[in-house]
Amino acid sequence: MVLGSLNMDLVLRVPHAPAAGETLEGRSIDHIPGGKGGNQAVGCARQGARVQLVGCVGDDANGRALCDALARDGVDTTSVRIDASASTGTALVMVDDAGQNRIVVIAGANARVEIDEHAFVEQLRGADFLVAQFETPLIQVARAMHAAKRAGCKVLLNPSPAQPVDDALWPLIDTLVVNEIEAGMLSGQLVDSPQEAAAAGQAMRGRGIARVVVTMGSRGAVAVDAHGARHHTAPVVDVVDTTAAGDTFLGALAVALAGDGDFDEAVRLGIRAAALCITQLGAQPSIPQRNAVLQSPLPPAWTPL
Ligand code: RIB
Repeated sequence: MVLGSLNMDLVLRVPHAPAAGETLEGRSIDHIPGGKGGNQAVGCARQGARVQLVGCVGDDANGRALCDALARDGVDTTSVRIDASASTGTALVMVDDAGQNRIVVIAGANARVEIDEHAFVEQLRGADFLVAQFETPLIQVARAMHAAKRAGCKVLLNPSPAQPVDDALWPLIDTLVVNEIEAGMLSGQLVDSPQEAAAAGQAMRGRGIARVVVTMGSRGAVAVDAHGARHHTAPVVDVVDTTAAGDTFLGALAVALAGDGDFDEAVRLGIRAAALCITQLGAQPSIPQRNAVLQSPLPPAWTPL
C-alpha cells in the first residue's frame, strides 16, 4: 500500500540552472507522470508487486493522465480520490546537462489527501508494507502509520521532502529511507561520508526503527540494522536525469523486503534499479522493469563500516 503524491512533472531540459535575473534557452519541455507516491507505486509494481495507491487528484486532464498511466502499470487506483475543488499536483523539474535536477512542487490536490484511520486499518489488512513520503499532509501520514500499526502492517517511511518527524511516529517505522540531507536533519548530525551516514543511521535506529538506509547518490548507500552498518557502492553510469532515483530505489527495496528478503540484497537491488533509472529522462518512464534490473551488472559486495 502506497500513500502519496501524484504530480504531473513539467520537465525542462536546460544547459545549466539559470541564475537570478538570467534568461536561458531551454533544450526541451515534456509533461511526464511523477510525484513521489506515484513513482514509488510504479517502482513497486515494476518489481512485480501488487500495489494500491492512496492519493488525490483534481478533476482535470492531468489527474486522468496520471491515473491512466498508473493503471497501465497495474497499480490499483481505486483509492485515488478525485477532488474537483483542487488542481492535480504539478512539479516544475529543471534538468541540467549534468543530469542534476531542481524541483518546485505545487501540491494542489495532494494537500487534500484524507485518511480515515479506522477504515484504513481494514484496507491495510494483508498488505506487507505501508510506504509513505512527506508530499501529502503529515497529519494524514501519521494517521496512516497508526492504522498500519493496528493492522500489523510494516511501515517503510521516506520522509521526503525533509521535515521533522514527530516523536510519536518514530516507533511506528520499520524501515526508514533517507538521503544525506534528510539523514542530517533528522539525526542532527553532519552526513557527508559513509561513516557519518552510519553514525546518523545508528542514532536514528536508537529511536525505535529496525532498519535505516541512507542513500548517497553516486556514493551508493549505507544500510544500518541490529547487525551494524554496511556501505554499498553504486555502479558508474552515464547520468541523464536523477529524478525518481530515490523512488526507484525505494520501490525495489520495499518489494525485496516484503518477500522477507535479505536486507543487504534488497539494498543492492535498489541501487541497481536506481542506477538504471538515472540513465533516462523523467520520473515514471525511467523506472526499470524487474528483468532489466536483474540483468544489470552486480555491484561489488558491501563493506562493513
Ligand atoms: O522524487 C521525484 C519526484 O519529486 C518528481 O516526480 C516530482 O513530482 C517530485 O514530487
